[in-house]
Amino acid sequence: MIAKSRDEAAIAAVGLKDALAAERRIEPGGNLRASWEALLTEARGCTRCDLYKYGTQTVFGEGPLDASIMFVGEQPGDQEDLAGRPFVGPAGQVFDEALEKAGIARSEVYVTNAVKHFKFVARGKKRIHSKPNAGEIEACRWWIGQERSLIRPPVTVALGATAARSILDKVVTISRVRGAPLPLADGGECWVTVHPSFLLRIPEAGRRREERTKFVDDLRRIRDRAAELTR
Ligand code: URA
Repeated sequence: MIAKSRDEAAIAAVGLKDALAAERRIEPGGNLRASWEALLTEARGCTRCDLYKYGTQTVFGEGPLDASIMFVGEQPGDQEDLAGRPFVGPAGQVFDEALEKAGIARSEVYVTNAVKHFKFVARGKKRIHSKPNAGEIEACRWWIGQERSLIRPPVTVALGATAARSILDKVVTISRVRGAPLPLADGGECWVTVHPSFLLRIPEAGRRREERTKFVDDLRRIRDRAAELTR
């Protein structure tokens, strides 16, 4: 991995400003928002694991603080690291399309990641995504715990194995737990599904279509369940 340049520090400063501006447009305000903004500012200075040394900036969660659904991804990718916002790159595009097909407005859900810094291996000018290890996931669980205790979403969706490990605090096999709610200690429930990047990596068009349909079906079930729980 490569250390941060001065340009990256400037990008990080813009990222924080944009993230705060975007969040302030979203209700509710008051103490909840103030607590969340304090958390965001604190997270920007996180040194709980070594990943802060290499990424451009912390990529915190975003979305309404009264959201009934919280989506949790793995970690920011290259574009998220530069923008300071989750799911804005290629995986974000797949995610957005699936949300739309499932009738879920992205502006109404909270979107975050299990690990808040981009982990990569430098290959020439390219930064290649590298999976976070157990220690990095564990170090970052503190932040997701804080986000969850402020937002208290009735439904939390783990997108992929890293997110599931962080939310459930154990290793699970996606195909075994997919499609049914798992109870969480705070009274909410966790739904596990695949990560949008998995859908991007499927080489065969037919299978890719099939898996995308299954993903949208999961999201529809999740949408209905969240509506049921908040009626
Ligand atoms: N993949 C993730 O898990 N999260 C992002 O924010 C982007 C890609």
